[in-house]
Amino acid sequence: MAPKQTGQEPHDLNCLTISELSALARERMDKQTRDYYNEGADSGSTLAENESAYRRYRIRPRVLRDISQIDTSVTVFGHRNTVPLGVAPAAMQGLAHPDGELATARACAAKGIVMGLSSFATRTLEDVREASGDIPNVLQLYLFEEKEHSIKLIERAKKAGYKAVLLTVDTPMIGRRNLEIRNQFKLPAHLKIANFTESAEEAVVDDSSSSSSSLSSQSQQSTTKKPRRPSKAGYSDGTKRVLPTGAITFHTHAANPTLSWETSIPWLKEVAAPMQVWVKGVATAEDALLAVHHGVDGIVVSNHGGRQLNGALATLDALPEVVAAVQRKIPVHVDGGIRHGTDVFKALALGADFVWVGRPVLWGLAYKGQEGVELCLRLLMDEFKLCMGLAGVTRVQDISKEFLAKVDRDGFPSRL
Ligand code: FNR
Ligand code: LAC
Repeated sequence: MAPKQTGQEPHDLNCLTISELSALARERMDKQTRDYYNEGADSGSTLAENESAYRRYRIRPRVLRDISQIDTSVTVFGHRNTVPLGVAPAAMQGLAHPDGELATARACAAKGIVMGLSSFATRTLEDVREASGDIPNVLQLYLFEEKEHSIKLIERAKKAGYKAVLLTVDTPMIGRRNLEIRNQFKLPAHLKIANFTESAEEAVVDDSSSSSSSLSSQSQQSTTKKPRRPSKAGYSDGTKRVLPTGAITFHTHAANPTLSWETSIPWLKEVAAPMQVWVKGVATAEDALLAVHHGVDGIVVSNHGGRQLNGALATLDALPEVVAAVQRKIPVHVDGGIRHGTDVFKALALGADFVWVGRPVLWGLAYKGQEGVELCLRLLMDEFKLCMGLAGVTRVQDISKEFLAKVDRDGFPSRL
C-alpha cells in the first residue's frame, strides 16, 4: 500500500506537540492508568535520561540542496513504512481507551506504520491483525517458563500472518515500579489479557493457596464464570525451579529468569520460523555480538522505557556501541525517550535503522482513541519530514553522523 501523505490535514489546535498530548492525556487517564503508563523503575532517572540524551546532540543543517522531494519512507518487515518509526508494543491498552489495541492498529493502518503488539494486550492478536489491514504486525513475546503457553501463542501469530516475534530480553525479573505497587495495580474487571483467556479458563481452584496478591490478579478479572486458581510467580526453592501457576498475568508470568542465549534463541528460532526472531532489550556491544552470533534477525536497543533497570544507560547512549558491534550484519532499531521528529533523525544519524515509540502513542490513545493515535503519529511524521528538509536531506539512508554535533558537559558542541 502506498504510504499516505501527511501535512495537508488541519491541525488540532489543542494539541500541536507530543508534550501537549502528554498533558491532555494526563487529564483523561485515571490515576492507576496514568501511573502505570508514565512511571519508570525506582527513581525514574533512566526514563528521564532516555529523553534528555537526545538534547545532548545538535543537528548540523546543510543548505541549498534542493529538498523539494523528500522521501521519509523505509522498508521494514517487507513493508514500505511511511517513516522510520513504529509503534512499540505496550501492554493493556484497554486502560487508555475502550477500543484499546484495535484503535492503535487502525491508526497505524491509516498512517502506514508498523505496530508491535504486546503479549499482554487486551485484544487478541487475531483481532489486531484484522484491524491492521495491509500493515505488518509483529508480536512482542515474553517467553514463559511454561513453554506450552508460548508455543500456542507463537503458532497463533504464525497462522494470523505476523511477520516477526520480538523477544523481550530485559525482563528476567520485573523492575521495581513503586507507583504500581502503591496503587495495588489491578486490571479493571471489564478488561482481560485477551491472548490468554484460555489459560484463565483452564485454571482450577487450588484450595491450598488462598491468598493472591492484588498485583497478580489482573487476568483473573475476565468475565468467565469459572473459578480461577490464584496466579503465582515462579521461584527457586534452593534446589529447583517451581514454575509459575494459575492464569497468566504479567506480574506472575512475564519474568523468566531461566532464559539464555544458548538455549532460548535456537529454540525460539525453530518454533517461530518462518517468522523472524528479534531481541528487544539489548543495550551493550557484548550482547549485540551474541545476538548476531546466535542468528537473530534484528535487535531493538531498549531499556523497556526505563521501566526495568534504573541506572542503566539511556538507549541513545547505548546505541553507538551496538551499531559498531553489529557492523550492519542485521538491522538495529532503538526505542526510549523519542518525543519529537528531530529525535528520530538523531537516532538514525547515530546508526539506528528504525525507531519505536511507546508512551506518546498511549497518550494519543487516552486523548482520543484511534484519532488520538493518528494525531500522535502525524505530529512525529510531520516533525521528522520538516527536520529532514531543514537539515538538507531528502532520503532516509543519507541521514548520517555528519549531521550531528555532541554537546559536552560545559555546553560546547563538537562534531562526531
Ligand atoms: C511498555 N513496554 C513493553 N515492552 C514489552 O516488551 N512488552 C510489553 O508488554 C510492554 N509494555 C509496556 C507498557 C507500558 C505502559 C509502557 C510505557 C511500555 C516497553 C515499550 O515497548 C518500549 O520499550 C518503551 O515504551 C519505549 O520507551 P518510550 O517511547 O515509552 O519512552
Ligand atoms: C510493562 C510490561 C507489561 O512494562 O512490559 O509494564
